[in-house]
Amino acid sequence: MGSTSATTKPLLLSDLASSTVRLSHVPSNFIRPLGDRPNLQEVQSSDAVSISLIDLRGLRGPNRPQIIQNIARACQDYGFFQVVNHGVPETVVDEMMKVSREFFRLPESERLKSYSDDPMKTTRLSTSFNVKTEKVANWRDFLRLHCHPIQDYIHEWPINPPSFREDVGEYCRKVRELALELLEAISESLGLERDYIDKALGKHGQHLAINYYPACPQPELTYGLPGHADPNVITILLQDDVAGLQVLKDGKWVAVNPIPNTFTVNIGDQIQIISNDKYKSVLHRAMVNSEKERMSIPTFYCPSPDAVIGPAPQLIDNNHPPLYNNFAYSEYYKKFWNRGLSKETCVDMFKTDQLSQHPIAS
Ligand code: OGA
Ligand code: NI
Repeated sequence: MGSTSATTKPLLLSDLASSTVRLSHVPSNFIRPLGDRPNLQEVQSSDAVSISLIDLRGLRGPNRPQIIQNIARACQDYGFFQVVNHGVPETVVDEMMKVSREFFRLPESERLKSYSDDPMKTTRLSTSFNVKTEKVANWRDFLRLHCHPIQDYIHEWPINPPSFREDVGEYCRKVRELALELLEAISESLGLERDYIDKALGKHGQHLAINYYPACPQPELTYGLPGHADPNVITILLQDDVAGLQVLKDGKWVAVNPIPNTFTVNIGDQIQIISNDKYKSVLHRAMVNSEKERMSIPTFYCPSPDAVIGPAPQLIDNNHPPLYNNFAYSEYYKKFWNRGLSKETCVDMFKTDQLSQHPIAS
């Protein structure tokens, strides 16, 4: 008779984790090798290590220079910060969270209509990070979609739950306004023209992920997402009230506990490159826990695929030679997905050869 669908392993983690026999152990393909486990005892709390909480209302008034300075410091010291009074209405955020939860509660057959393991697809539901290339799986399912320009993609999005396109569309439009405001502030904080980054991104791009991390019987053995840097320009993360995000600061992992009505913003690889390493794309990871499922919704603001990215000429002089070659963002994005998540960030693959270009006199 051969194998039947009843004995086939589910494609998605959510369907494995909620199967009738409740998992008491993490299946072996999720278990990290001994030297690469979360080490939860060594994690510091963000209550102890103060992380900038920036009130964006200040950007729109006479205190703008001060706020720009705070952003500069946060970008330099941490590569990430949290924002309040960000302009995205609470109702829009609530609807986004609600429809995301509803999506992951749909019957498996309905959700699987969006399933694909091809990272280049512009709308897709998948699991882990890249099931085609990775050796160890991550405790995560995700729905990922492109959302700018919205009319190019919205027809691909799920039609279930029925309000999905409307709720997600509205969220994406509002978060885009926030992204543009932050990019102006970051440009200024680097001493560039206010619209420098805006112009550098071509026609712009915006992707959204809805990450679903089921409760996990042995969170000390696996990751929701292992340490990685984001390949895009900036990431604007909405988290629910379950902690899980950690960022690397001075060689130690710091838990960024969720604060209601805030977003966590992190610098991605493209800002590191445009700023010629003045700002660093920060390593971060997502933990899972044994009690609660967790949802997080990152917006990845990015250049359009054809935009050519490189260090800003204004930041280059004899003492600051360009550290990166110019490239089309599509090239970068492909490399990111094909090499797997790893601690060496993808930016290294685009570095100029400093020694041959600027030989050290001996
Ligand atoms: C990501 C990410 C963090 C989180 O999706 O790139 O870093 O808390 N997510 O889910
Ligand atoms: Ni990330």
